Amino acid sequence: MPYHTPESPFDEFTVRLPDGTVLTVRPLKLTDAKALSDFRKNNDRFGLHDPFWRDGGPVSSLEKIRSVISGIREQITAGRSLSVAAWDGDRIVAWFSFRLGPDETAPTWAEIGYAVDLEYEGRGVITNIGFLSIWPGFRKYNLLRVWAKMDPRNDASIRTAEALDLRLAAVPSELADEVPAGMLYYELREENFRAY
Ligand SMILES: CC(C)(COP(=O)(O)OP(=O)(O)OC[C@H]1O[C@@H](n2cnc3c(N)ncnc32)[C@H](O)[C@@H]1OP(=O)(O)O)[C@@H](O)C(=O)NCCC(=O)NCCS
Repeated sequence: MPYHTPESPFDEFTVRLPDGTVLTVRPLKLTDAKALSDFRKNNDRFGLHDPFWRDGGPVSSLEKIRSVISGIREQITAGRSLSVAAWDGDRIVAWFSFRLGPDETAPTWAEIGYAVDLEYEGRGVITNIGFLSIWPGFRKYNLLRVWAKMDPRNDASIRTAEALDLRLAAVPSELADEVPAGMLYYELREENFRAY
C-alpha cells in the first residue's frame, strides 16, 4: 500500500475506495466551515462521538465552527495533530483525527478518532485513510503507541479499530487520565507497526 509521506502535514493526498471512488484528504481550512456544518447536520448520529464536541462544545454557528477549525490548524502547526477531513468533490464525507501527546516537543503517542458520513459507511473510508495516516505518523514521530478509546456498545468503531490492527489492551498508566471509566482502550501493538 502506498503510504502518505507528506512534506508538510497540510499537504493533501488521495484515497481510492474499493468501489473506485477517489477521495481527497487534507486538513480543514477556515473556508470549510459550511461543508463541515453540513457533514455534522447530515449525521446527527455522531452525538457525543463527534470529535468536535470535545474541543469546542456543541457547535452551532459557522463562526464557532471556524474557531474550532482555527484551533485544529494551530494544533497541526504546533506539531500536536495530523487530523484530516476526506472529501468527495465539495462534500466532506469523513473525519480522521490524529492527536499527538503528551507534548509537542517529544510526542510518544497518538490518539486516533474517526467518523464517516452514513452514505459512505462500510465502504472502507476509515480503514483506507487510517492506513495512509497512521504509519507515516508513527515513523515521523517514532511513536510508542497509537491508541483509541471507545464505547463498548459501538460495534462499528470496534471493528474499525481492529481492521486498523489496534487490539484491546489494558490502559497504560501514562494514559490513565485520558481514558474514562467504562470506555475500552485499543492500542496498535509495537510488533504490528514494526512490521511495516
Ligand atoms: C466507526 C465508523 C467511523 C466506521 O467507518 P467506516 O468508513 O464505515 O469503516 P470501514 O468501512 O473502513 O469499515 C471498518 C470495519 O467496520 C465495520 N463496520 C462499518 N460500519 C459498521 C456498522 N454500522 N456496524 C458494524 N460494523 C461496521 C466494517 O465491516 C469493517 O469491519 P471488517 O473489516 O471486519 O469487515 C462509522 O461507523 C461512524 O462514523 N460511526 C459514527 C461515529 C463513531 O462512532 N466514531 C467512532 C468514535 S470512537
